[in-house]
Parts: sequence; structure tokens; C-alpha cells
Amino acid sequence: MKEILEDLERRREQARQGGGQKRIDAQHKKGKLTARERIELLLDDDTFEEWDMFVEHRSTDFGMAEQKIPGDGVVTGYGMINGRLVFVFSQDFTVFGGALSEAHAEKICKVMDQAMKVGAPVIGLNDSGGARIQEGVASLGGYADVFQRNVMASGVVPQISMIMGPCAGGAVYSPAMTDFIFMVKDSSYMFVTGPEVVKTVTHESVTAEELGGAVTHTTRSGVADMAFENDVEALMMLRRLYNYLPLNNREKPPVRLGNDGKGDPADRADPSLDTLVPDNPNKPYDMKELIVKVVDDGDFFELQPDYAKNIVIGFARMEGQTVGIVANQPLVLAGCLDIRSSIKAARFVRFCDAFNIPVVTFVDVPGFMPGTSQEYGGIIKHGAKLLYAYAECTVPKITVITRKAYGGAYDVMASKHLRGDVNLAWPRAEIAVMGAKGAVEIIFREDKNDPEKLAAREAEYKARFANPFVAGARGYIDDVILPSETRKRICRSLVMLREKKLENPWRKHGNIPL
Ligand code: HXC
Repeated sequence: MKEILEDLERRREQARQGGGQKRIDAQHKKGKLTARERIELLLDDDTFEEWDMFVEHRSTDFGMAEQKIPGDGVVTGYGMINGRLVFVFSQDFTVFGGALSEAHAEKICKVMDQAMKVGAPVIGLNDSGGARIQEGVASLGGYADVFQRNVMASGVVPQISMIMGPCAGGAVYSPAMTDFIFMVKDSSYMFVTGPEVVKTVTHESVTAEELGGAVTHTTRSGVADMAFENDVEALMMLRRLYNYLPLNNREKPPVRLGNDGKGDPADRADPSLDTLVPDNPNKPYDMKELIVKVVDDGDFFELQPDYAKNIVIGFARMEGQTVGIVANQPLVLAGCLDIRSSIKAARFVRFCDAFNIPVVTFVDVPGFMPGTSQEYGGIIKHGAKLLYAYAECTVPKITVITRKAYGGAYDVMASKHLRGDVNLAWPRAEIAVMGAKGAVEIIFREDKNDPEKLAAREAEYKARFANPFVAGARGYIDDVILPSETRKRICRSLVMLREKKLENPWRKHGNIPL
């Protein structure tokens, strides 16, 4: 028996060594942790149950029969994050560069299948040279098997991708179909074709970092949600994000009160909000200040903070319950909706809707962004994505109009007409087809050479529409509230909406304007 146990331990130790000490040292030298070290940091102590440690590839070409490493380049299994179940796969760059073989793919598929059966999220720690070149089409098939599962799991269990090394070729498409993508600065990149191919085809000279590094994808392409300084920070932030999410689409999100267990009082007023909106309607203010003052303990987990900054999205808690926040940001492009911000917010609203997370929307929007670049880029279709997302959304929807709600953007931003449950406005809110100046220039064109008359018309239009009471008179907003009591009103609304039930008509699936 002793010998058998020793043999088991020897085999385990061999698997733990991955591609060997030399390659582990090389990984560390690059500032990267190994696949196992990452799992250790991500999960609660001593909770990791590893599967398929002894799986080997079945390839015989190119001398592969002699090169077998137990585990075959990916560590898989399940464990806990703050006591909540999670499935995980972590690619091991020290084994064939983390390249995906048929067997490697089977291991990933196995944890994904199990996660679906038991209803728990899947986190992928990606660090891979892509398809295992020696295996040819078998590895491509393996990728496709993973892709298929990504799609089947979408909206059923949360899927999170952390890019912690190379991620190239078709390999980027599995993360692309997950709910969140995070990257590590300077050590991770994602692209469909690398710099050499780019050079050959388009004659552009570009580094891997410029083409698909963390900064590129969090500021220019919007492919990634956040970028972190190093592996440790990335994994710690992932644990924080995890606390906001439900385990699956049948569960409500977890309720977490502050460290003292009592939580931030629901009726906490913040008098400074009464003066947040400047007197001059053209002067910006920071919408994030409002968010931080309203949510529990000022704790806001912002997603995509460096992309399409004219809209702010992220998770927070109200009385311990996770909420999704969507807010126009007057500091950037006056808070206009454009192509990027519409897509950014639409995807987030759909995530919240899929996973029972109430959506709180703060509105200060002068409209959709005008111009040829927006029209040629398809703002009609892309703006419609946000409209579609809010309209199909059945989770509790609470909307607070802080200042402008003009034109189509008024409709889009979780208005009453799109089944907003509770629609509130601050006293300075202006709910109208457009701003007073633009409006009178159109409807009183005959007065255009008479500045005095025009000014009088503008004042008249302002007096009529630059307030929340016209919408209030129609019941399009439920109440005009003091800014200082915003938190209290949202908390009460969320309690009222806790058992909300609303279903859309049966269909195979809708056809969102893609
Ligand atoms: C097999 C691979 C490999 C791969 C790397 N290795 N990529 N083995 N298949 N795809 C091995 C190397 O041979 C090496 O083995 C070890 O991993 C580390 O690689 P290095 O090149 O030494 O590391 P580094 O200099 O850090 O460069 C990493 C890299 C580079 C940028 C990822 O290895 C690379 O460009 N690899 C090829 C990437 C690629 O073209 N993949 C296919 C993409 S197409 P030793 O034994 O020396 O340690 C694709 C299609 C998917 O993925 C389609 C899905 C639909």
C-alpha cells in the first residue's frame, strides 16, 4: 500500500511541476505567476478540488508521443470564493506554452458542463499560445467545443475571463463570448492576427502591446472591461467582482452588508447632493460623485472606466443588495449617447437582466451625438441596442433624472414607457424634446433675425418645458424628489420591487439590432 501511495504522490508532484522548474522560473521572470499560484490566490484557502490532473494529450505527430506532461497545460477544478462555489480553469504556459490540445479542451469542457449542471460561474485564467500546432484540426475542434459551451452557458451562469498572457488567433473568441474580460498590463494581449501577419497584410508596423495590449483593449476597442497592474491585483479584484454576482440565473444576487454587519442606513441623506447640479445647465458635474454618495458605503465597482466615458456602468449595493448602475456622465461629451456608450451600456443592462440584478439609471443626457462619423458608423443601429436592452429588461428598473432628459435619449434611458418601475426626477430636471435654444430656432424660425424676440421665445419654452412637472403631470415620472433623499427613495423602491414578476412573451429569441 505504501508503494501505491508513494506512486500517487510522485505522479501528483510530476503534474504540479508542469513544464519544469526552468519554465516556471521563466514565467516568474516575466512577472507572471504560474497557473497553480493563480488558482491559489483566486480561491479561498484550501478549497481547490482539482480534476483531471493525470490527463495527457493523445498526439503522436512531431515527436509528441515522447512529450507528455500530466495535466496537459491546463489546471481545472472547482473551489470557493468567499465561501461561494466557482469552477475554474487556469492555462499553464509552462506546458507547451499553454497551447490548447484536444485533451486540454476536453478538460475545460468538463468543468463548464459541470458548472452548468450545478449552476455556478466559470472563471477562465487564460495564458496560452493558442491552438496546439502539432495537433492541427483536433485542437481547432477543441476550441469550437469550448465556444459552443460559452454560448450555451451565456445568461445561465456568469462567465469571466482573465487574460494573463498571450491570447491570439481564434482563441480570443472564447473570452469574447464571456460576460467580462479583464487583462493584466504589460503581460497580456489579445488579437485575431499578430503583428507579423498585420505587417504582411496591411504593411502596418505595430507592437503586440499596441495591437492588443491591456491599454488598447480598455481604452480603444472596448473589448476588455478593466486592466490591472499585475497578476495579484487582477486576482484580488476578481474576487471582489465575484461578490456582486449571483451564482446562476435562477438565483438572486447575494446580499452583503458592510464589515460591521449592519450596513449603510437606507435613509442616510446627503445634503451635498442638493447643490451637485450647477445653476448653469451647460456646466458639467461629475456623475460619479452622485453614485458614490448614494450607494452603500461609497463602494462602486466601475466597469470599463476608461472606455466611452460619457456613460458610467458598474456594480454597487443598496442595503446590501447588488444593483447595476448605468449613468450618463455630463463631464464627457456632455453625457451624449454615441455608438460606443450605447453598446457599452446595452451589454451591461443585458447582463443585469439575465442575472436578476436590478438596474438603477441616473439620467443627464442632452441626446444622441450628432454628426457624420456617428451616422456613418451606424448610430441608428447601435443606439437601438440600448433601447432594445432596456425595453426587454424585466428586472426592477429605477430611474432618476438629475438634469437633462432630451429627445430620443429620454425614451431610451429606462423611461416609464420602457416599463421603468420607479421613475423619479430631481427638481432641476428638464424633460423635453430638446434644449430651449435649439427648440425655438426651429419652431420660431421667422424670428431668427430678431434676437430679442428669440430670447423671449426661449425663456417661454424654458418656463414651459425646462422642469419635471410636465412629465409629472402625465405620470411619466412618479415623483419629484429632493436630491439629498435619493438614496432613501431608491432603497424603498428596491424593497417594494423585491418580488417583482414580469415576463416577456415566449419566443425562440429576440433579434437585437447587432
Ligand atoms: C504548441 C506552442 C504554441 C502552440 C507556444 N508553444 N505556442 N506549442 N502550440 N500554439 C510552445 C513553444 O514551442 C515553447 O515550447 C513554449 O510554448 C513557449 O513558447 P515561446 O515561444 O518560447 O514563448 P514566448 O517567447 O513567450 O512567446 C509566446 C508566444 C509564441 C507569443 C505565444 O510562442 C507564439 O507566437 N506562439 C504561436 C502562437 C500561434 O500562432 N498560435 C496559433 C494561433 S491560431 P518550449 O518547449 O520551447 O518551452 C489559433 C487558432 C485557434 O489559435 C482557432 C480557434 C477557432
